Amino acid sequence: MDIIRVEGGHAIEGRVCVSGAKNSALKLMAATLLAPGTTTLQNVPNISDVHVMGKVLKRMGAVIEVVDEHTLTIDTSGVDSWEAPYELVAKMRASTAVMGPLLGRFGCAKIAMPGGCNLGARKIDMHILGLEALGVEFDTDHGYIHAKAPHGLTGTSVTLEFASVGATENLIMAAVKAKGATVIDNAAREPEIVDLANMLNEMGAKIFGAGTPVVTIEGVEELKPVTHRAVGDRIEAGTFIVAAALAAGPAGVEVVGFNPIHLGMVIKKFEAMGIRVERIENGVRVFKCERFEPVDIQTLPFPGFPTDMQAQMMTLSALADGNSIITENIFENRFMFASELVRMGADIRVEGHHAMVHGVSGFSGAQVTSPDLRGGAALAVAGLVAEGYTEVSAIYHIDRGYERFVEKLSSLGAVVERVAVADPTDD
Ligand code: UD1
Repeated sequence: MDIIRVEGGHAIEGRVCVSGAKNSALKLMAATLLAPGTTTLQNVPNISDVHVMGKVLKRMGAVIEVVDEHTLTIDTSGVDSWEAPYELVAKMRASTAVMGPLLGRFGCAKIAMPGGCNLGARKIDMHILGLEALGVEFDTDHGYIHAKAPHGLTGTSVTLEFASVGATENLIMAAVKAKGATVIDNAAREPEIVDLANMLNEMGAKIFGAGTPVVTIEGVEELKPVTHRAVGDRIEAGTFIVAAALAAGPAGVEVVGFNPIHLGMVIKKFEAMGIRVERIENGVRVFKCERFEPVDIQTLPFPGFPTDMQAQMMTLSALADGNSIITENIFENRFMFASELVRMGADIRVEGHHAMVHGVSGFSGAQVTSPDLRGGAALAVAGLVAEGYTEVSAIYHIDRGYERFVEKLSSLGAVVERVAVADPTDD
């Protein structure tokens, strides 16, 4: 069992380069199923979620080679099984992203039903409704979803009830091989969806309007493998910006490897809090903020404020000079982080999907538990300015989505280490 131990009170300086986006790389990997042959993916983050997606694809018969730490080749010519098994879907919900491409290429898929997870119910009803409109028939038994398109996929119009990232992606990946045109209305607009559409178009798909609420897909007969580089991780970048705003030395911290436009609303809120964020080539330079203004934010689909930056923002607002209100509209259980931050001295009251954050003058280091991926990272970052030591446990959550998180923080001068500890509940 590893924990992350942070000693508070040390300034960070220098430059950190973010990895490729988790939420892009996972879908790009799934999309390789659509193009028999060998696709090369670059800028793939070396994180445990990517390893799980690799296992899902290998179980189906794909051959994956690791060219270097961030480059994979995936040969999907020999894929002869269409199943995403329970043990892998249970580890990572995003395994369900193989449903669209499997239906697109083979007309069938068998996917373990994703159960609840620590972010709430997270249903996939919109994926299913959309795919049904394309001609897919669904059956469920023994915890599995069996999807089949007996007459092939036929283009149609789908209006999503909510701009779901996963549903938009699964629909695009199925519709690229459908007969005729599909129009997705109220599509999600996240930069990772644009990245996926770009790769599919390089493969020969005809997708128009990705990144806008209306995406049109004209089905094509075949897709060909390509070489594609995943977009930089805007959420990892946002996490390091928060670290810098809290703890940077006089020269600030450069966060590079991403497109600041992808963090538009987040940077706007950082600036409203008084944080100086300078645009530089391929990223930003961020300076320590001596006094945070309180802020009101509500999480929304892109280009709104991302739910994946909510915990990090709560960390900043917990030290603001006044009261902030944070409203979580995307995931019901995403305030579990607040009670961990309270253990470090924050003053936060949660009511339903609102959190009232009353700024305090500082954090005190404590033993805390990662409630989820982003919350875990935000706790370690809070530890940078906490008095004494902060020990973050359940860091497998952080490993899911942050590559070499401890090493990157250390390279900036943070006093942080990964420590193996015995489980205190063991006899
Ligand atoms: C993706 C991201 C995740 C991010 C989220 C929102 C990946 C691997 N994960 O998750 O990091 O926090 O987008 O930006 O890319 N919903 C339904 N029915 C559905 C689909 C979704 O009710 O069929 C609900 C979900 O329960 C949730 C909300 O819609 O409350 C948003 O879900 P969605 O946008 O689909 O997020 P994910 O694709 O799961």
